[in-house]
Amino acid sequence: MNLTHARMLVTGGSAGIGAAIAQSALERGARVVVNGRDEGRLEARAAELGAHAVAGDVGTDAEAIVAAATEHLGGLDVLVNNAGWGRRMSLEELDPDVFEAMWRTNVLGAAMMAKHALPHFRAAGRGAIVNIASTAAKRGYATGTAYTSTKFGLAAMTQCWQAELRPSDVRVIQINPSEVQTGFGGRDPERALDPKKLRSEDIAHATITALEMDDRGFIPELTIWATNPWSAEG
Ligand SMILES: NC(=O)c1ccc[n+]([C@@H]2O[C@H](COP(=O)([O-])OP(=O)(O)OC[C@H]3O[C@@H](n4cnc5c(N)ncnc54)[C@H](OP(=O)(O)O)[C@@H]3O)[C@@H](O)[C@H]2O)c1
Repeated sequence: MNLTHARMLVTGGSAGIGAAIAQSALERGARVVVNGRDEGRLEARAAELGAHAVAGDVGTDAEAIVAAATEHLGGLDVLVNNAGWGRRMSLEELDPDVFEAMWRTNVLGAAMMAKHALPHFRAAGRGAIVNIASTAAKRGYATGTAYTSTKFGLAAMTQCWQAELRPSDVRVIQINPSEVQTGFGGRDPERALDPKKLRSEDIAHATITALEMDDRGFIPELTIWATNPWSAEG
């Protein structure tokens, strides 16, 4: 897909990986709507990027977010399902309210965003959905019960949508970042960055590269590792 003039909606576009994807797409001439829940932070980041802001929670407001974004853009070519969060909890610590809220954003939110975007892709005769999953969609680990289950769920949905949507020329791409230096998990996004660990722009590079492939083909899944993240650790 040539991203010049492409109409793109990036959920969780007010920070981290989503903001970097929005920035790279804008640099290629795409028209971008960014979404997030915190309206103040979203408006500030959108103004900085030169994107349009649509506030809302993907877990509860997906239909309204897609409606506002498509009204602004006059349709939709790309949905980036990036909004997501996680918290480490051992099995003993498992909090059902936290688990449910995480699932509502990471799984149900992504699904409802895709559902409401689909009519716009059908109208355009093409489309792309990028699901930002994780290496936690590939392998479980201690304290990962809730988060990995949401990302395995997103991976399962990616395969279902690929099966359903290829005949409609809609490409569904799963991106699996390993650890990326963002505010994820309550970390300070302004902290000094380790030069050997992944940054949001690395994930944006992979995402944009996958999207830019000619529409005749697509990359179903892409995993990004840091080459040598251990070398800077004391
Ligand atoms: N950082 C990593 O190491 C890493 C690794 C693999 C995968 N990932 C995945 O990459 C994605 C982005 O993570 P990140 O590291 O960029 O995190 P981040 O810096 O914390 O940014 C998360 C973004 O999502 C938004 N968001 C969260 N919940 C939302 C909701 N319910 N509705 C709408 N927007 C919501 C946040 O804004 P508001 O809080 O204002 O809503 C923010 O814009 C997530 O899906 C994450 O699971 C991250």
